[in-house]
Amino acid sequence: MALHDNVGVGDFVLLDRITKDSFIDNLEKRFKAGRIYTYIGEVCVSVNPYRQMPIYGQDKVNEYKGRELFERAPHIFAIADSAYRSMRTQGKDTCIMISGESGAGKTEASKIIMRYIAAVTNVNGHQEVERVKNVLIQSNCVLEAFGNAATCRNNNSSRFGKYMDIQFDWKGDPIGGQIENYLLEKSRVVQQQKNERNFHAFYQLISDDGQLRQRDLQKSPGAYFYTNQGGVSKADGINDKNDYNTVNSALKLLGLHDAEINTAWDLVAGILHLGNVTLSADGEGAKIAHSSRSSVEAVAKLLQIKSSEITKALCERAIAAGGNVVQKTLTSGQAMYAKDALAKAVYERLFNWLVQRINEAIKPGDMNGYKGTVIGVLDIYGFEILDTNSFEQCCINYCNEKLQQLFIELVLKQEQEEYRKEGIQWTHIDYFNNQVICELIELPHKGIIAIMDEACLSVGNVTDKTLLEHMDKSLKGHPHYTSRQLLPSDKTLVHAQDFRIKHYAGDVTYSIENFMEKNKDTLFQDLKRLMFNSKNPIISGMFPDGAQDITKTTKRPVTAGTVFKNSMIALVKILESKEPYYVRTLKPNDMKSPTLFDKQRVEHQVAYLALMENVRVRRAGFAHRTPYERFVQRYKMLSRRTWPNPKTRNMQEATNAILQDRGLINDVAFGKTKVFIRSPQTLFELENNRQAMIPGIVTFLQKIWRGYLAREYYKRLRAVYRIMGVYRKYKLRTWVTATQRSLGFPVSSQTGINKGRIPVPAFGLNANWPSAPGPLKSLVGLIIAAYGRWWAYGILRRVPEHDWPQLRLKIYCSTELIKRRRANWGLSRDWKGDYLLLEGLNQARDYQQSFQKLQKKDHFQQVLFSSRILKATPGSGGKCAERSIMITDTAIYKLDGPKGSFKGMKSGIPLNQVTAITITPGPDQLTILHLSSGRDMVVALHCGSIQGVSSWVVGTPDGGPPPDLTGEFVTMVATQCLRRNNKSVPVNVTSNVECKLGKKSNSIRVQTSDQAVPTFAKDGPNRLMLTWPTVPEQQVNRNSSRPPLSNINNRNVTSSNGNGNYNNGAQSRINNGYNNNNAENGNGIAKPKTPAAPPPPIPQRIQSNY
Ligand SMILES: Nc1ncnc2c1ncn2[C@@H]1O[C@H](COP(=O)(O)OP(=O)(O)OP(=O)(O)O)[C@@H](O)[C@H]1O
Ligand SMILES: [Mg+2]
Repeated sequence: MALHDNVGVGDFVLLDRITKDSFIDNLEKRFKAGRIYTYIGEVCVSVNPYRQMPIYGQDKVNEYKGRELFERAPHIFAIADSAYRSMRTQGKDTCIMISGESGAGKTEASKIIMRYIAAVTNVNGHQEVERVKNVLIQSNCVLEAFGNAATCRNNNSSRFGKYMDIQFDWKGDPIGGQIENYLLEKSRVVQQQKNERNFHAFYQLISDDGQLRQRDLQKSPGAYFYTNQGGVSKADGINDKNDYNTVNSALKLLGLHDAEINTAWDLVAGILHLGNVTLSADGEGAKIAHSSRSSVEAVAKLLQIKSSEITKALCERAIAAGGNVVQKTLTSGQAMYAKDALAKAVYERLFNWLVQRINEAIKPGDMNGYKGTVIGVLDIYGFEILDTNSFEQCCINYCNEKLQQLFIELVLKQEQEEYRKEGIQWTHIDYFNNQVICELIELPHKGIIAIMDEACLSVGNVTDKTLLEHMDKSLKGHPHYTSRQLLPSDKTLVHAQDFRIKHYAGDVTYSIENFMEKNKDTLFQDLKRLMFNSKNPIISGMFPDGAQDITKTTKRPVTAGTVFKNSMIALVKILESKEPYYVRTLKPNDMKSPTLFDKQRVEHQVAYLALMENVRVRRAGFAHRTPYERFVQRYKMLSRRTWPNPKTRNMQEATNAILQDRGLINDVAFGKTKVFIRSPQTLFELENNRQAMIPGIVTFLQKIWRGYLAREYYKRLRAVYRIMGVYRKYKLRTWVTATQRSLGFPVSSQTGINKGRIPVPAFGLNANWPSAPGPLKSLVGLIIAAYGRWWAYGILRRVPEHDWPQLRLKIYCSTELIKRRRANWGLSRDWKGDYLLLEGLNQARDYQQSFQKLQKKDHFQQVLFSSRILKATPGSGGKCAERSIMITDTAIYKLDGPKGSFKGMKSGIPLNQVTAITITPGPDQLTILHLSSGRDMVVALHCGSIQGVSSWVVGTPDGGPPPDLTGEFVTMVATQCLRRNNKSVPVNVTSNVECKLGKKSNSIRVQTSDQAVPTFAKDGPNRLMLTWPTVPEQQVNRNSSRPPLSNINNRNVTSSNGNGNYNNGAQSRINNGYNNNNAENGNGIAKPKTPAAPPPPIPQRIQSNY
């Protein structure tokens, strides 16, 4: 339905009333809204927009490709597509006839059609098809260069008729073609009207500097008689230089060799030079003017003919009389005529030769007898009425009469045929049958052409005037012919010069002048022979008739009129045999304006294109018809009985249902396959109802489609998640198996399942955790922690619970304080804390008394650690003194040695003064408590006398290494500082010991010697030296190897009661200062409360793996 653009009506058949005014108004309305195409049924009326329209792009091609005419807004693409589809699907030969007056857009329309066909074919990109398409399209610019000219009506006016067959293979791809050309306006070569140009080729040649010298040309068209008569050398919108290059590229693409291309341009140049040859009278005869000698030389050079022969051929004529040949000298007038005739003939043959070469380039290859199908495109001159109309206009207008007749016949025939086929009553339509005018021109013996031919054949001097008299005599009384002789009252006709034909498109007055010569179209045999004798074989080949002997050329050549008539009859035959499609082009104004709509001019064209008749014929009784399937397809939403699918027996019943439900049944007739709708209003109502329902249907379809998309998406998503799940499981399983393997669990190679045996114990410390997959990464820390706890549990469950607090402290000491920087720090020992209590009875009593005094004074709660120490005394020259140390929950006390009954020496140093602790990595027990007062405490720890062993104890009573108190000491100070002051005390483990004694910086060196007791001594200014007793070999070995944790509970971390190495019964009651035993010891001393050990952190080393 051509109603989509809503500007006027897209099909003239749908006009309410068909009058000239409503027709023109509709055209104007649409033209002004940029709708240049409107249908009359299947005929496309096109108005020249005189501007570039954005309606020919690929988007539009896609819009129209494979669509029915009525589905989209009117467009020439739709016509091209119909013709193409009919050709392809039904195997019919089709043709598109484009008609209209000069400048109405026929050639543009034919190019648009070709471009469309090129765009929708060769989807498989075959090279040969692509080449053919290219050649077909490129041939246009060659034909336009040599066959088009700038005229007053059109700057690119085709001065020849063209019919092109495009041949297709069974796939519908173009595989070749054939061009027929009709009546080139060759008189233009030698003569142009004011403001008109010669053929473009002349201007293109002299626009190119490269060609000028080579062909002795000048750049100015004014310099040549054949290009200066119109007085214009440039045409708007035409760039001769660019076109010259385009034409040469196209010629190459068509397969012309350089020699052929050069010859073509040589001929064009030769014609230009020939035009400048003047022939003057030499007595009776003609001779070449002296000034023209150089032009003759140039012609001779370009056409490769001797100049003397040219001169002879132009000035003389050979006449055969009774078998003899006589040379007759021509008058200058005759010679000038011969020159022009030669120029016209050369150009015409050049043009025909080019067409023939194009045809060779697009000739389809052998298809094994398969003929293929064709689409013909006819771009032929429109009806012409000029100020002076001559032989050419007569031919052109005759051609248009023929085509009009064909059009009316085909359209009428088609319509009547359709009504008959559908069984609908045909109403008679009055239309003008122009058969009578065609006959006036073409009828044998009686027609104008026959009369002209007869005159040309007559012996004797028959002039144009006598021809007119003959015509007047023969055609007297014909309703479409008149002249001044026959109608003396008509002063518009010049006596003995004009005759008038009443064409279907209007009256045209022709001037009889030159009719005879133009019809004879004589080219003397001398000139033909001249050209045949050219040394250039291409030129020679263009004039094969020049080979004939003059004595044998008795037969009169066929006249131009008859040639044209025959070609028109042949053309009509070709067109008749094909399914026709029409494009009727209109020119909105003569100013080439894109906005002006000159009603009068348009009216005239509408009349002579018989468009109104076309509408009437098309609408004979019914404004619209459409096959039932198509009708139902388009309007099925208008009835419940047909939506969404017809519930009727057939499409006719479905159509009936729709029309009944909408109350439109009385305005239609039912044919066999189509429904015929009488008035346009019915169609509009159907359309409007349809439009109203479309949004709902679109929403419904969108709903269904979106639902479908969502379901598909959901399915895909589910699949994705399933795959992801399986993959994740696989990754997890892989990781679990890898982890189990790496942790040393025996894993079944088939199931990958751990068989439950615990791996070789390494306390989980050296476990190598494989890199975890992404989703597990956040969990791995927890898994490792759990693993660690599992191990810890494995270890702890073998340690008695009351030993756990001490174990926790040792772990803290190891991981947070010593951090593996010292080999021996008392790990494997039972930490007894208050070592002074373990002294001999007397000493222990002294110590208790001293302790009670201090507690009374300072009110501390408990003693965390006490032992003997060796103290460096810087004031006494670095000498050392044996003292004791006691750490309570609040302060550090320096006590005297056993000799001084462990008396408190000074008031305690508050724990918050401790800023750091330094110990060494070696076996010595040098310990520096760095104090904020700047007076650091430098001591060497030792257990003192146990069970009567006084003084320095080098080893335990069982000969083991001396107990290392550093770890225990450091842990007590650090944990208590943290607990009390919420401040962690850094522990340095270094061999370069620095300290402040008496506010001065000192360094302390440690050396070993086999002396029995450690000593401090001065080692120079601000330097001290601690000499540490050498530990016997077997003791060193036992010290340096750190016992495995699993041994802890076996040996040292067990209750000390079990071994009793250091403990007696009384001691056992007090020794476990860190155990959860709240019982008082036997001496009535409240057992120190178990310090709350900091929570054991996750070992740093394991965390760093993740
Ligand atoms: N569809 C169109 N879009 C844009 N411009 C157009 C269109 N049709 C025609 N024209 C313009 O009109 C000019 C004349 O068109 P065209 O040469 O096709 O006329 P024609 O009918 O072939 O005339 P002639 O009979 O003289 O050869 C074109 O050069 C172009 O500028
Ligand atoms: Mg044209």
